[in-house]
Amino acid sequence: MPHGSENRLGRSLFGANGTWVLISCYHALVAPSLSANGSERLPAEAAAGVALIETRRLSKSFAGYVAVDDVSLAIEAGAIHAIIGPNGAGKTTLFNLLSGFQRPTSGRIFLKDDDVTGLDAPRIARRGVVRSFQINSIFTHLSVLDNVKVSLQSKTELPGRFWLPSTATKRLEPRALELLVAVGLENERDLLAVQLAYGRKRALELAISLAQDPEILLLDEPTAGMATADVGRVTQLIASVARGRTVVLVEHNLEVVAELAQRITVLQRGKILVEGTYDEVRRDQRVIDAYLGGGAAAHA
Ligand SMILES: Nc1ncnc2c1ncn2[C@@H]1O[C@H](COP(=O)(O)OP(=O)(O)OP(=O)(O)O)[C@@H](O)[C@H]1O
Ligand SMILES: [Mg+2]
Repeated sequence: MPHGSENRLGRSLFGANGTWVLISCYHALVAPSLSANGSERLPAEAAAGVALIETRRLSKSFAGYVAVDDVSLAIEAGAIHAIIGPNGAGKTTLFNLLSGFQRPTSGRIFLKDDDVTGLDAPRIARRGVVRSFQINSIFTHLSVLDNVKVSLQSKTELPGRFWLPSTATKRLEPRALELLVAVGLENERDLLAVQLAYGRKRALELAISLAQDPEILLLDEPTAGMATADVGRVTQLIASVARGRTVVLVEHNLEVVAELAQRITVLQRGKILVEGTYDEVRRDQRVIDAYLGGGAAAHA
């Protein structure tokens, strides 16, 4: 298991306040390498160093309560960038701003140097930013397979047609099945989505998002509520789909963060506390102070 010793330290460093949920064991399940359109993308490294998403002094207040506070952040093209922090730190609100679900109170958002501040979610999505794990992305009374086909259809077919007859969507089936295999849902293909357990619904949401073949994938706690075996599988899947894509990941499970993220931003009370690699962040005294009250990690 990679990062074994780091994860033990990570557990003692971050686990103490009870809000950090860590799962100690991975299953080495290898999801097939895929890009959602079936083609090879450019290696991620090719674009490294370029800020794909940038926020400048971004803030969001709710009735005077500042949930995101003056956040200036650069997400490099091709990176997996994790946003971590305790409950209520503003991680989901930051995602809501990046994906156009909420408008910032102040500050700017740039996508490939274009100012996209204030654009709504559909417009942001058309620019290649897809946010996963909104539970309403699932049609609960369609089958698991049809849910993925609807998503493929919305990407490829006439936008005005909600649901084409099964003969017309038959050609989408091989790709839909490929995505279900990738997230480990092939055996549940004919179940209604409503019948899936919580963790399996999240796997379906990932397949639905991947069907959109996003350039930038925002994942809000992709492993929350999952069984250990599913966590390992989804971690491998994220690593696989991240090749040639940019992934921004909000995650409480620090083993997943250590495994996946090249860069980590720690948010606390809406502000950036620390930024760096996993090793830099876990050793940072400000993080240690924030989560352990100082000193304890030195003995971990
Ligand atoms: N629509 C809203 N109206 C009022 N307050 C809100 C709203 N959305 C978020 N908040 C508040 O903003 C703060 C940040 O919330 P947010 O959901 O972004 O945190 P988070 O870091 O995602 O937390 P968690 O780890 O629990 O998911 C919280 O105090 C929350 O109560
Ligand atoms: Mg959240």
